[in-house]
Amino acid sequence: MSALLANYARAEVTFVRGAGCLLYDDTGRAYLDAIGGIAVCALGHAHPAIADAVAEQARTLVHASNLYHHEPAGTLARELTTRGGFARAFFCNSGTEANEAAIKLARKQAFRRGETARTRIVACTGSFHGRTLGALAATANEAYKQGFGPMPDGFAFMPFNDVAALDAAIDERTAALIVEPVQGESGVHVASRAFLQRAREVCDTRGALLIFDEIQCGMGRLGPLFAFEAFGVRPDVVTMAKALANGLPIGAMLVGERAADALQPGDHGSTFGGSPIPAAAALAHLRVRDARALEAQVARMGARFGAMLAEVAEVRRERYASPRGMGLLWGLPVQAPYEASAEVAALRERGVLVGSAGGNTLRFAPPLIIGDEEIATIRSALTAAR
Ligand SMILES: Cc1ncc(COP(=O)(O)O)c(C=O)c1O
Repeated sequence: MSALLANYARAEVTFVRGAGCLLYDDTGRAYLDAIGGIAVCALGHAHPAIADAVAEQARTLVHASNLYHHEPAGTLARELTTRGGFARAFFCNSGTEANEAAIKLARKQAFRRGETARTRIVACTGSFHGRTLGALAATANEAYKQGFGPMPDGFAFMPFNDVAALDAAIDERTAALIVEPVQGESGVHVASRAFLQRAREVCDTRGALLIFDEIQCGMGRLGPLFAFEAFGVRPDVVTMAKALANGLPIGAMLVGERAADALQPGDHGSTFGGSPIPAAAALAHLRVRDARALEAQVARMGARFGAMLAEVAEVRRERYASPRGMGLLWGLPVQAPYEASAEVAALRERGVLVGSAGGNTLRFAPPLIIGDEEIATIRSALTAAR
């Protein structure tokens, strides 16, 4: 029996190493990782540039605390804010923490302006923003909240992608609207451009902040570095984590000019947030991204991946419905009586790792370096007779 807490239903596989799109178990068997450590390993496993950056930083400076400046976090903040057109960055250790920070920032910004009644955070149906109490309160799935109440006050939900509902959902009590441009956990649902554009307009007219949670769909997964670039809508705040350092724990909140001064010394913090090793790994990730022209690669391979899934859904119509997704984040709905969890296990037996998500859906978030050969392997695993 495992000594680990039983909060995960772990598969009976022990991984000992990874390389590129492959993970190897303790018997030496290779698996094609089509879920990429849940949208984390964008450059694949054990990327040499990340390994070198980590090793070099570990020999130079591991920790100094946020009482002082250090070069990796300073440079990373400059790189991310410049590339995204933001004013400031806050670093933490996970996606959940980045969203907690964004929730606190939105409330504090209103408070500083004397709008003490503007405390409400509006999230969308199907949303997933994390597991701490604030992020959980902004998460739609009631099952995740059961037994953990009471939830913090001041959270409301509106229907995802419902343009007409925005007007009533955002008012003078709304501190922020938080949206995933592509929802991952709900089963991969892509926001419409019209929804995000209207969200921008309504937030502007009502004085609320627009927060994009790009923790799963950002960092190049849709092609451009930021998911918002793929929709042509600029949020006030972006939260990032997962792939940011290609596997090292880091979260980030990037804040535009409008709310850049909301948090002042003492308002928020994190001991390890933006510590040198993950920051150095994130910088290495950005460099590799640039060198490998990953935006164009994702455009090319994302289209092929989606086409492959559409073809699989056609060939196995009794088992799968039409895929949903964008870039290299895809969901393949599984038709009853088949179950996504059983499909995940069967695919693993065939040597392909995929995830499951809400609405009985298979989820794919492969390394962005995936090629035609890997896509063909995934196709074979999905179409193999069972
Ligand atoms: C959209 C989104 N937000 C937030 C989170 C939480 O991130 P973390 O698990 O790093 O705390 C996740 C994780 O799956 C996510 O997909």
